[in-house]
Amino acid sequence: MTERIQELRAAAEAAIAAASSSAELEELRVRYLGRKAALPNILRGIATLPPEQRGPTGRAANQARQALDGLIAQRAEQLAGGELEQQLRRDVADVTLPGEPPQPVGHLHLLTATRREIEDVFLGLGFRIAEGPEVETVYYNFDALNFDVTHPTRERADTFYVNDQVVLRTHTSPMQPRAMETQPPPLYIIVPGRVYRRDSDATHTPQFHQIEGLAVDSDITLADLKGTLLAFARAIFGPDREIRLRPHFFPFTEPSIEVDVSCFMKHRSGERCRVCKDTGWVEILGAGMVDPNVFSFVSEYGYDAEKVQGFAFGMGIERIAMLKHGVPDLRLLYDNDVRFLEQFG
Ligand code: PHE
Repeated sequence: MTERIQELRAAAEAAIAAASSSAELEELRVRYLGRKAALPNILRGIATLPPEQRGPTGRAANQARQALDGLIAQRAEQLAGGELEQQLRRDVADVTLPGEPPQPVGHLHLLTATRREIEDVFLGLGFRIAEGPEVETVYYNFDALNFDVTHPTRERADTFYVNDQVVLRTHTSPMQPRAMETQPPPLYIIVPGRVYRRDSDATHTPQFHQIEGLAVDSDITLADLKGTLLAFARAIFGPDREIRLRPHFFPFTEPSIEVDVSCFMKHRSGERCRVCKDTGWVEILGAGMVDPNVFSFVSEYGYDAEKVQGFAFGMGIERIAMLKHGVPDLRLLYDNDVRFLEQFG
């Protein structure tokens, strides 16, 4: 009888070692150790054996059962590990592979790309970026910027009023007093953002984008403003550019200037230049030295007009993008026609 047990055990061990899945292993467990299997049967029939066989048979059968139990458990663990491994390997997706079919990779909109390019220039010069609300109070949009109550921009025909005290900001300049209220000098910020005016034609849309600049420190002069804007103009329009300052008026700067950059188009003889109209100069922005009256609105925050000076400038991002890339109509920037957008990769 013990020989029969050894045979059974050997056959079962071989089968268990060869099992290739948990399901197959479960079948083997039933076949060799289940209720109707040979080995348990032998154990159940021990009492019917001649007395001298009971001891050796019982021992051999028990050992065989324990050994097979152990082997099955061991193999089950191996198989489970292997199956998990396999599944993990099967489920791996290489996210760096191109899709099928490969999808074209898009690119930034010309306005976004231009804004970031301008931001990069000023970040490099030590300015940081600040953003303010598009729905603004009349106080910050006009009053704290020294706008006279009769200033034409305050007209309902020029500005979108939410109510008497609240407007869609007409420029990014309201961030000048707002920023000064949050931080004492020195202050070097640029302010990108949307602005709103009641204008609509080939060169004006009711909503457009500006970047404001504000520097406040001790000993700031118009020469600092000019140097900063020259560096900006050369970074954006090419290293050979010159700039010129023309007198202008803004309520919140004194003196105020408009800034032109030397024309960057190749001029062909006999043809009128579309960009500079043959004047050699292109207007790019408004600027000036911060008016002491503006400081008086924020004097309690550490801005003493006797001790600090500042310069400020504001430019339209659309205008810079159009000039730089020869875009003839502002509205092309908003039509979302891919034939246009694709040209600026
Ligand atoms: N806010 C002015 C405008 O929108 C531009 C400007 C900004 C002028 C800062 C001077 C200083 O026209």
